[in-house]
Amino acid sequence: MSQTYHSYWRCPSNIAIVKYWGKKPEQIPMNASLSLTLSQSNTEVRATLSPKSTSESVALSYFFEGNRNELFEAKFSKYLEAHSASFPFLKDFQLEIHSKNSFPHSTGIASSASAFGGLALVLCDLFEQTQGQKISGNWLQTASHFARLGSGSACRSVFPNWAQWGKTDGQPESSDLFALPINKVHTNFMDMRDTILVVDDQPKKVSSTAGHALMNKHPYALSRFQQANSRVDELTHILQSGDLDAFVQLTESEALTLHAMMMTSSDYYLLMRPNTILVIEKIFEFREQSGIPICFTLDAGPNIHLLYPAQYEVGVKKFINEVLSNCAKSIIFDRGGNGPEQIISD
Ligand code: DP6
Repeated sequence: MSQTYHSYWRCPSNIAIVKYWGKKPEQIPMNASLSLTLSQSNTEVRATLSPKSTSESVALSYFFEGNRNELFEAKFSKYLEAHSASFPFLKDFQLEIHSKNSFPHSTGIASSASAFGGLALVLCDLFEQTQGQKISGNWLQTASHFARLGSGSACRSVFPNWAQWGKTDGQPESSDLFALPINKVHTNFMDMRDTILVVDDQPKKVSSTAGHALMNKHPYALSRFQQANSRVDELTHILQSGDLDAFVQLTESEALTLHAMMMTSSDYYLLMRPNTILVIEKIFEFREQSGIPICFTLDAGPNIHLLYPAQYEVGVKKFINEVLSNCAKSIIFDRGGNGPEQIISD
């Protein structure tokens, strides 16, 4: 067994419109969610398997942006140990991973989504190479399943553009175990822009893990979970019909509801910063005056994602330059994208 195997994938991050907030063990979501996979914000994961020289059950060396990273090594080793039965090659091979992000940390772009998405893709690829057989069933669905086991939102990142994760009445094929692509989309939503205004680049004060846990005894949990499930089905219809006004309304209400959940938890907290509110008010004003269907969403942090169809780019960029740029420490221009890519290196 002297052979070595290589796998190299680029996986984008995603931004949720309907938010996943609350979970059971192994990232079984308390409600369904629906997101836009990004294009420019991604993680590259380069993996090499070589014969193992140690007796550890999982032997992982993890390098992030050129340097050995013990924190990531411990986190990903834990994941691999928990799921080693699904990846039998881990018994005989040591795994070396080099990863890098195309975006800075703490900017409102979910790095766990692109990192676990990328890891799941290389693991599925290495499974096929070492077993000499194809994964049975749908390849991306399997990758989505393994991405979910690392980080819930990661399961949506392996699909292009719009993806749903979590069981809803309106989508009989949906599942809590993996995401599904949403293929029937009106042209209005086929080329979306996501411009991220980084109003604060400090690391998160409260982790998503702690935030999810607070939903376990949240006074509004039940109605929130029901609301999110019906909003996923509602948004699926909006994406089909092309109704931009309905999209704006649902997207902004979701963002504010997510933050309202944080503010009304027993251990309440507040992630919006003064500039978050200022930018939101400027967006309301601009939309009213220009008639351009631009809207905002927020992740579990203070930074603003501005969403708008590509056709309004010129007007929105003018607005960003003239009005919003003073409120932001940096600006990242991203867009909906085609999902992960395998990188063929020589
Ligand atoms: C607010 O996927 O980061 O971004 O499953 O614990 O890794 P874990 O949490 P994570 O939570 C994401 C929360 C969110 C909303 C979303 O992406 O749907």
